[in-house]
Amino acid sequence: MHDLTTIVAEIAEEMQAAPDRGRRADYIAPLARVDVGQFGMAVVNADGQMFTGGSADELFSVQSVSKVFALTLALGRVGDQLWDRVGREPSGSAFNSVVQLESEQGIPRNPFINAGAIVVADVNLGRGRSRESIGEIVRFVRYLADDDTIAVDVEVATSEQETGYRNVALANYMKSFGNLRSPVEDVLALYFGQCAIAMNCRQLAMAGRYLMAAGLNPTSGHRVVSKARARRINALMLTCGHYDASGDFAFRVGLPGKSGVGGGILAVAPGRASIAVWSPGLNAQGNSQLGTLALERLAVRTGWSVFDRGDALPA
Ligand code: DON
Repeated sequence: MHDLTTIVAEIAEEMQAAPDRGRRADYIAPLARVDVGQFGMAVVNADGQMFTGGSADELFSVQSVSKVFALTLALGRVGDQLWDRVGREPSGSAFNSVVQLESEQGIPRNPFINAGAIVVADVNLGRGRSRESIGEIVRFVRYLADDDTIAVDVEVATSEQETGYRNVALANYMKSFGNLRSPVEDVLALYFGQCAIAMNCRQLAMAGRYLMAAGLNPTSGHRVVSKARARRINALMLTCGHYDASGDFAFRVGLPGKSGVGGGILAVAPGRASIAVWSPGLNAQGNSQLGTLALERLAVRTGWSVFDRGDALPA
């Protein structure tokens, strides 16, 4: 039987020593200032035990990892109608790419590329105000993580409001196809607000437990989503969660995962564990360089890859 305490501690140590740490996301000013030398990791297993390594209590900007929680809320609001407005195929393109939107009539490929997440934000906004909808997603994440201290980093949100030209372009373009209902400014205020939620690895791993636990919140025993919905969100994370590196992430790690340009990744070993890793240096596709490497090592050492279940070690 593997010892998670040792595995997590060893991986954290290996990552501290790793020479190639990737590059920070410098297009969001506050993210360009984060110390690239940091690494954190938290694993919460099906019994609720928590294993941490490195800077697991350091807050970081969750950025696109928030798209998982936003998608969960949107599916709760409109159910399968969401799929009339967003696809569920990998894009094979960069997270902020505009190229497919023209030929595909303003329907984004999936809910995890920026365009798809902006449509999801439009759904979550409904007829409400951005501020209230940001509050709703923060409360949802607090509930999932069982932690009322989680909040939005206003400096990060403001910075993206000021310089998020690509997202403004994507939103206007989709609006021109009639795929956004609310004003572009309001939808983007929600989108930037949710991306600017700050969490640490411990909190993020806790928040992902419902995806490990077939839709249940293990703290309260309440159902967050149905078993089928948890399975489908995991499927989307596996196929689309790392943009044009989703295939490579499946090849190397083999777990549903969602990355963010803050350097965080939430990964799910269904039935076994919810895992958060963080290291601010990114690879060429905008996913955490060391976060991916750490998850690859964790999956190998635990046998947790979803493609490895035949000879998986006992949990
Ligand atoms: O919209 C953006 O560009 C950022 N707020 C989020 C992008 C992101 O995290 C992509 N993930 N790797």
